[in-house]
Amino acid sequence: MQKLYLGIADSLLMRMFGRPKGVLGRLGGIILAHTKHDFTQRVIHLLDVQPQDKVLEVGFGPGVGIQMLAGAASRGLIAGIDVSKEMVAQATSRNAKAIKAGLVQLQHGSVEQLPFSDRTFDKALTINSMQVWFDVMAGLQEIRRVLKAGGKIALGFTPQSRQSKVGLLETLELAGFTEITFVETQQGFCVLAKKSWEETQSCF
Ligand SMILES: C[S@@+](CC[C@H](N)C(=O)[O-])C[C@H]1O[C@@H](n2cnc3c(N)ncnc32)[C@H](O)[C@@H]1O
Repeated sequence: MQKLYLGIADSLLMRMFGRPKGVLGRLGGIILAHTKHDFTQRVIHLLDVQPQDKVLEVGFGPGVGIQMLAGAASRGLIAGIDVSKEMVAQATSRNAKAIKAGLVQLQHGSVEQLPFSDRTFDKALTINSMQVWFDVMAGLQEIRRVLKAGGKIALGFTPQSRQSKVGLLETLELAGFTEITFVETQQGFCVLAKKSWEETQSCF
């Protein structure tokens, strides 16, 4: 019986926060928009976003991180992909001005199949999202593909994500990332990694 209740709780949480859908998803987005601003800001700071950077956020949810990124890369480009139509709607309305100005582009889609050319972005980030991707390895390899040589990725997790640190370094290495470091913060942890220069240069 306890297993059944846990199963129901998990599927409600998935509908509310994991891949927000319907009324519960709408409510989940409103809650997400009012939590962990400091953590999101810290992850963006650790990613060292510069004014002219092209940045990709995967799983942007209600779009608060996108708003912060638009402030940090004000002369660059912010692109976002989220698998939830509800989150695309909330983030689009939250970032309407920056979208109109051409600074922000938000799309519905999944990380496992990114609609961008190879070597498009300087930086990429994802916060409390990787733990619910359909295929983590495929998602990480896609992000690596669209990063420029030397490009940087930040993966942020608060305890609510229930993401374990165990095996994360090996997963990132297998996906082709290097210079992997873990940073502990007051609200969670962030993993930083790079797409190496050497491998891309050897392709030419
Ligand atoms: C817990 S929410 C986090 C939202 C936001 N990053 C934040 O910290 O508030 C997870 C987000 O990842 C998105 N997501 C889940 N699986 C995805 C996938 N395969 N591709 C892209 N986005 C995905 C969900 O739709 C949701 O918006």
